[in-house]
Amino acid sequence: MPATVVVGLQWGDEAKGKIVDFLSENADVVVRYNGGNNAGHTVVVGDEVYKFHTVPAGILHDSVTAVISDGVVIDPAVLCGEVSALAARGINTSKLRISNAAHIIMPWHKLLDQLEEQHRGSQKIGTTGRGIGPCYQDKYGRWGLRVCDLVDEERFAARVREVLGYKNSLITKVFGGQPLDADAICREYGEFGRQIAPLACDTSHLIASEEAKGSRIVFEGAHGSLLDIDHGTYPYVTSSHPISGGAAIGTGLGPRAIDDVIGIAKVYTTRVGSGVFMTELEGEEGEVIRQKGAEFGTTTGRPRRCGWFDAVAVRFTCKINSCSRLALIKLDVLTGMPTVRVATAYDINGERTTEFPQDTLVLEKAEPVFEEFPGWDQQVSEARKLSDLPATARAYIDRLSTLVDVPVWAISVGERRDQTIMVDV
Ligand code: GDP
Ligand code: IMO
Ligand code: MG
Repeated sequence: MPATVVVGLQWGDEAKGKIVDFLSENADVVVRYNGGNNAGHTVVVGDEVYKFHTVPAGILHDSVTAVISDGVVIDPAVLCGEVSALAARGINTSKLRISNAAHIIMPWHKLLDQLEEQHRGSQKIGTTGRGIGPCYQDKYGRWGLRVCDLVDEERFAARVREVLGYKNSLITKVFGGQPLDADAICREYGEFGRQIAPLACDTSHLIASEEAKGSRIVFEGAHGSLLDIDHGTYPYVTSSHPISGGAAIGTGLGPRAIDDVIGIAKVYTTRVGSGVFMTELEGEEGEVIRQKGAEFGTTTGRPRRCGWFDAVAVRFTCKINSCSRLALIKLDVLTGMPTVRVATAYDINGERTTEFPQDTLVLEKAEPVFEEFPGWDQQVSEARKLSDLPATARAYIDRLSTLVDVPVWAISVGERRDQTIMVDV
C-alpha cells in the first residue's frame, strides 16, 4: 500500500475522518491535499471526539508524519488553534509539516465570502462562510498570498499592501462594505507566521522522498466528489478538487504513484448547503435519518439534508475517482426502517438513463427510479464480521456494490474505530 487516496463519493461528510484514522495505524505519512477549514472530519477514539478542519486526521497516530500540502488553503488562526488544542490533549504535533506553496485565507476572503453570498440572494451557494471560494479565486487570479509569504514578515506586509488596495476597492465600491486595515492584518498574521514558520517546508519534495523510500502514504481528501469544482453539481460545489486526481494536483506526486483509491459513501445520502439533491427525503423519513444519524454539520452545525442512496451518482463518482475499493458507512442508522430504497436510474424528460448528467439544470429534472428492499430491525452496531449482519442488510450492501461496480472493503456500523467490519476484497 504505498499510496492510497481516501475520497468522498457523495456531497461530503461520508466519514473520511474515521477511515483515514483507521488506515493511519499502518501509515507513515498522511497528507491533506485539498480544501480548507470548510472540512470537518470527525474521529472517535473511545470517549474522545476529535474534529479536524485543517490538520490531517492521521496526526492522532504518533508515528505518522502529517502533511498539509500545496492544494490546501489555510486559515492560520484556525490552523494554530487546532494545533495547540491537539497538543493540549497530549497529541504529538511535532511531525506536522505545512507546504510553503499552500495559500493563506485572508480576512478579505472571509468578508467577500459573506458579501458574495448576500449578493447572490436566493441563488446563494450556502457556503461554510470560511472564505474558501474567494481564496481559491485569488489563487487562480494570481492575487494569492502563500505560506512562504506568511513566514517572512517584511515580504508578507508588502504583499498585503499590494493586494489590499485592490480588495478594498472591491469591498467598498462594489459591495458598499467597510475597508480593511493593513496594519491590523499584519500584526495579527505576523504572530501566526512565527508559529507556522518551523513547520513550513517544500512538501512536494518530502512526499516524493517518502514515496521513493516505499513509505505508506495516505491521502486525505476533503469534501465529496459531487462538490468537485469540475465534476460536481456546479455551481453548488466547493472551489477545489476533492476527487482522487486532486491528490496528484494538490501534492505534486505524479498520478502513477497512486495505486489505490478507497471511495467512502454512506448507505444513504446527505448534503449541506444549496443545490440539487435527486433522492432527498423532505418529510418524516428524512427527519428520522437526520436524528438517528446525528446529521448536523461538523463545521457549521447546520442540519444536513438527508435522502436515499443514489447509485447513479455514486457509480459516476466511483468511475471518475477510479475507485479500487469501497467503504460503506453508517449501516446502523438504517436499522428499524421498514424498507430502504436506492436510486438505480433517472427519468429525465421521459427518457431513462443511468448516466449522471453534467448539466445541473438537466439533473434538476431527474426523477429517480427506485429499487426497494426490506429493512432490518436487528441492531448492527456490535457486528464485527459480515455473517453478524442480518441477511436483508447483507443483501442491501451486495446490491449497492453491484450497482456501483466496486467491491466493498469495509462496512462501518458505528462511529468508533472498532465498529468496522472488514471484508476480503
Ligand atoms: P467526514 O467529513 O467525511 O470526515 O465526515 P464527518 O466527520 O463530517 O461526518 C461523519 C459523522 O459520522 C461523524 O460524526 C462520525 O463520528 C460519524 N460516523 C462515522 N461512521 C459512523 C457509523 O458507521 N455510524 C454512525 N452512526 N456514525 C458514524
Ligand atoms: P467534509 O470534508 C459537507 C459544502 C458547503 C456548501 C459548498 C460550498 O467535512 O466532507 P464552501 O464553504 O466550500 O465554499 O461551500 O460546499 N461543503 C461541504 N459539505 N462536507 C464538507 O466537507 C464540505 N465542504 C464544503 O456546505 O454547500
Ligand atoms: Mg465533514
